[in-house]
Amino acid sequence: MKQLKTPLVVLNFKTYIEATGKNAVRLGEICSDVSRDAGITIIAVPQSSDIRPVVETGVPVFAQHIDGASAGSGTGHVLAEAVRDAGAIGTLINHSERRLTLAEIDAAIRAARRTDIATIVCSNNIATTKAAAALKPDFVAIEPPELIGTGIPVSTADPEIVSGAVDAALGIDPDVPVLCGAGISKGEDMTAALELGAKGVLLASGIVRAPDPKAALMDLVSEI
Ligand code: G3P
Repeated sequence: MKQLKTPLVVLNFKTYIEATGKNAVRLGEICSDVSRDAGITIIAVPQSSDIRPVVETGVPVFAQHIDGASAGSGTGHVLAEAVRDAGAIGTLINHSERRLTLAEIDAAIRAARRTDIATIVCSNNIATTKAAAALKPDFVAIEPPELIGTGIPVSTADPEIVSGAVDAALGIDPDVPVLCGAGISKGEDMTAALELGAKGVLLASGIVRAPDPKAALMDLVSEI
């Protein structure tokens, strides 16, 4: 697996119509341009059906979800091999909007390792951050669900949960870096996150739904 250079910006396209199909490709191009100009790693996270066209824009792509399933007789699951072969280099696991049991998170991480793709396991509090770190993903991302999509940045509204998650992960496995997300959209939110010990941010609506997503993404990375 290719080592990802931090700080990381991970842009989750979610199921926003502004980031689906042709719009996903346009957003991928924006990520690619801003990443090149700013020299910051930006990862695009489109829906499964948009992985391949977004990969073609040149931006590194993660899947939004994989299952722990193996190839064979299964229906409706997202196979790690399928997202890898479409060009994804990693995947989110256990996003607040796509929750899994602990056993399913473990199985999904194993499927990702089997296919050599990177993992970002999302957590909603300090306790789940510890559990996630114990499974040795490549990153844990702390996202308080109540702040997701609000435009209220976790890095200033709840700094303790970010620094607490950083310390908690460090106590379990110093090799598992922590990202944070929810309400992040501006350069100052990103700077605050990095000052709290996060190695990057996971974000969506502040960029995807901005009137000018390129300007919003440029602002996000402007203070690094
Ligand atoms: O995965 C990113 C996320 O859940 C945060 O969403 O819209 O608050 O940036 P948003």
